[in-house]
Amino acid sequence: MKGGLVFPDGFLWGCAVSAHQVEGNNTGNQWWQWEQQGKIFDGSVSGRACDHYNRYEEDFDIAASLKLNVFRTSIEWSRIEPKQGTINIREVEHYRNVILALKRRGIKPMITLHHFTNPVWFEEQGGWLNPESPEIFESFVRKIVEHLGDLIPFYNTINEPMIVATMSYLFGIFPPGERSLEKCLTAARNLALAHGRAYVAIHETCKELGYPKPQVALVKQVPRFEPRDPSSKDDVEEAQRRDWFFNGCFLDAVSTGEFQPPLGNGEKFDYLESSWEFIGINYYSRTLCTPQGEIFPLPFTSFPEGAELSDYGWEVYPDGLREVLLSLRKYGKPMVVTENGIATRNDEQRCRYIVRHLKAVHEAISKGADVRGYIYWSLIDNFEWVLGYQMKFGLVEVDFETMERKPRPSASLYREIIEANALLPNHLERYS
Ligand code: GCO
Repeated sequence: MKGGLVFPDGFLWGCAVSAHQVEGNNTGNQWWQWEQQGKIFDGSVSGRACDHYNRYEEDFDIAASLKLNVFRTSIEWSRIEPKQGTINIREVEHYRNVILALKRRGIKPMITLHHFTNPVWFEEQGGWLNPESPEIFESFVRKIVEHLGDLIPFYNTINEPMIVATMSYLFGIFPPGERSLEKCLTAARNLALAHGRAYVAIHETCKELGYPKPQVALVKQVPRFEPRDPSSKDDVEEAQRRDWFFNGCFLDAVSTGEFQPPLGNGEKFDYLESSWEFIGINYYSRTLCTPQGEIFPLPFTSFPEGAELSDYGWEVYPDGLREVLLSLRKYGKPMVVTENGIATRNDEQRCRYIVRHLKAVHEAISKGADVRGYIYWSLIDNFEWVLGYQMKFGLVEVDFETMERKPRPSASLYREIIEANALLPNHLERYS
């Protein structure tokens, strides 16, 4: 195609949501409790959310009208296992119906087993600080795979483990709101082990039960860290230090099975080694780095003057996605962009964001990054954790009073791109 940018055959095109952010009434997890304590920025609570629990058919009709061939969603652990060891079969059936509803529309399910929420009973045992947490998670995973594994081609074990570890135990922004580097690292180790155990459990269970062999990923948010002043040795080293802390040491652990400092002291876990068929990459933005003592500041809080920002205050920086994808080539695994998106009330800005980030993905592919798919966050506006309902990430607007869904122009743009399996010349002209 003259002037367009074509994606590889079989490229996965999707959107993502997570259970707690869209379903509504997930009363059995630690986030629900946290919200009741008034911890959300605007005092809101997830409440009914998008009522997706009851409206998933309608949402998947929209997904199908956009021509998505993959949809990333999560299973709410607290619904499945309301008490430790007790499986609620009715809820298992619910998710079976959800997955079947996707399949009927020709959309492949990509299922996340942990997307930020923990059952309250798990949290009460210390959450991810509990040395038994990896085993407890594994037993949940085995149950899910037993009941639903005949239908699931793609699994994401744990969404953004380093976000869970840092936000919950270092920055104190997610429940339980702790601020301790030591606890953060303990949680990160347990999350890595939980991932490794889940990986093994998924494959063992599928094999035992004769289910098709699925592809399993770790989903890592990979912020891009760059030196504030590229000619300053200190800034360059600071960017490397933070990149290693947030990204490198965790990804290396999954690749080699070893915990390197600060994650550990070289301990090796065979079951963790190469525990992925592909890497899920969530990319939003970059942070400029300059030494600030031992402190790790929140990502996405430092950007060049005059930079274009989202409503979240995150810089729009598509080049960072290209660089992240190129830098992860070293793991030798296929990659899927499992989240990329923007919170904005200006849909024209969303259109630009999508086109420019897809252009960056295309550049990475042409430089040898094995990227197999792109999943936009999110299909519908939803409950954005600490910021509640103010952030509009959706291709589709949700009226939270009436629950009416209204596709935005960015949804049509996305459909055009998917139908062409390409960025067309007019997309590039208009938006990049
Ligand atoms: C994350 C989560 C999503 C968020 C999205 C926007 O990356 O934090 O996976 O649940 O809603 O990223 O912040």
